[in-house]
Amino acid sequence: MAGKPFHLAWFLQGSSIAGWGDPFAGNIARDWMSAGAFLDLARAMERACFDYVLIEDSIYVGENWKNSREIFLANGMCAPRQEPSVVATLMAAATTRLGIVPTLSTFAYHPYLTSRIVGSLDQISGGRGGWNMVTGSSDLSAMNFGMDALPEHDARYLMAEEYIQICKGLWGSWEPGAIVADRDSGLLIDHTKVHTIDFKGEYYASRGPLNSGPLPQGRPVIAQAGGSKMGKAFAARHADTIVAAPRGVAAMKKYRDDIRAEMMAAGRDPDDCKVLFLLQPIVTETKAEAAEKIAMRREFSEKNIDRMLARFGWSTNLDLSDCDLDAPIGELTTNGHQSSLAQFLDNSKGKTLRQAIVDHTTKGYCVDVVGTPDTCAGMMAEIMEEIGGDGFLIEQPNVHRKAIASITDGLVPELMHRGLTRKAYAHEQLRDNLLDF
Ligand SMILES: Cc1cc2nc3c(=O)[nH]c(=O)nc-3n(C[C@H](O)[C@H](O)[C@H](O)COP(=O)(O)O)c2cc1C
Repeated sequence: MAGKPFHLAWFLQGSSIAGWGDPFAGNIARDWMSAGAFLDLARAMERACFDYVLIEDSIYVGENWKNSREIFLANGMCAPRQEPSVVATLMAAATTRLGIVPTLSTFAYHPYLTSRIVGSLDQISGGRGGWNMVTGSSDLSAMNFGMDALPEHDARYLMAEEYIQICKGLWGSWEPGAIVADRDSGLLIDHTKVHTIDFKGEYYASRGPLNSGPLPQGRPVIAQAGGSKMGKAFAARHADTIVAAPRGVAAMKKYRDDIRAEMMAAGRDPDDCKVLFLLQPIVTETKAEAAEKIAMRREFSEKNIDRMLARFGWSTNLDLSDCDLDAPIGELTTNGHQSSLAQFLDNSKGKTLRQAIVDHTTKGYCVDVVGTPDTCAGMMAEIMEEIGGDGFLIEQPNVHRKAIASITDGLVPELMHRGLTRKAYAHEQLRDNLLDF
């Protein structure tokens, strides 16, 4: 490949039925719950040689607008969401090289269960299993599991540290060579190589060993998205890949530099973790069509301020329905995604809430990449050159087959042609492909 290539992954926000009204959305309002769309997506990602697909999760129906579920359900916003490990299993069966990375929230699954689910995924996929480790952000999700609220933000990371120690212990509870399968002696498994972990922490405990057996990758690929100080430090200690959404090239570069410095401080080689930046490319056949889409996106935001604010409130655990739209934004704090809120407030100085949310929702996540495949590929190359690596986590706000094809069959062939992304997988396992360049 010419120059330094970069990695690609796909961010799948559940069934993403919200796009059901788009032209060319097919019949997703009717057939979203069946496997077809997921399988087509996985195959398209593999055709485009993506490293992995990350299956987002949130385990609640939003109510962060006028204390009601109405706006969320009426518009299919962030709901329905199916169990990611089930979807992951189907995607694994439909592919042979693509990495499959479901999100499992630490407050919702016991570490033994997570280790077993993700371990099994790694086995059935032949070493392509990953886990997006999130600590959750909404008290509504906590209530679904019998809690009144999530633990406080920083405490969640302290708990996560124990959690990951258990997972790593369980994945290591089978020594290499434990499975003997010797026909002559009749010995299948050497019991002296399978151990308990006897972990008793402040928050979690587990005895082990993991009864589902060893993993092809030893342990699955860990994805993380910490944005706060504690979150970043945690990710730098444990992640094989980090997904992030800082706004603007300077902030992206700083984020990656910070992570690399934290990794070195933690005694890790910074090249062992690939930082991928969230991007929503608008890829069109002509320049004029791109301009039209940008104008339509702004008009949609301006006409649907309530939906924009509800969606923002959903991710930041805030209900902004009482705020005056035409007054400057007052002080806001959250026990949810702190970095998302901090970034929003930072970019909203001197603006009214209305102006701030329109600006926020009419810009792509990290940077705007808009235009023909040629234009978009050129922009992506420049951004990566400026930042130094490691790639992009691609998303389309409304997922349907046409939106997916605009990336996998429009943009990616141009990236491949320029030698910016891989044309074929070099390895069978996910971590090996991530570490390939
Ligand atoms: C690209 C990306 C994907 C994320 N996916 C999820 C997810 O699926 N579920 C979830 O609860 N949080 C998700 N998060 C939120 C992060 O886990 C994290 O809480 C957030 O980035 C704020 O960081 P902090 O917890 O350090 O404040 C995601 C964040 C980013 C940037």
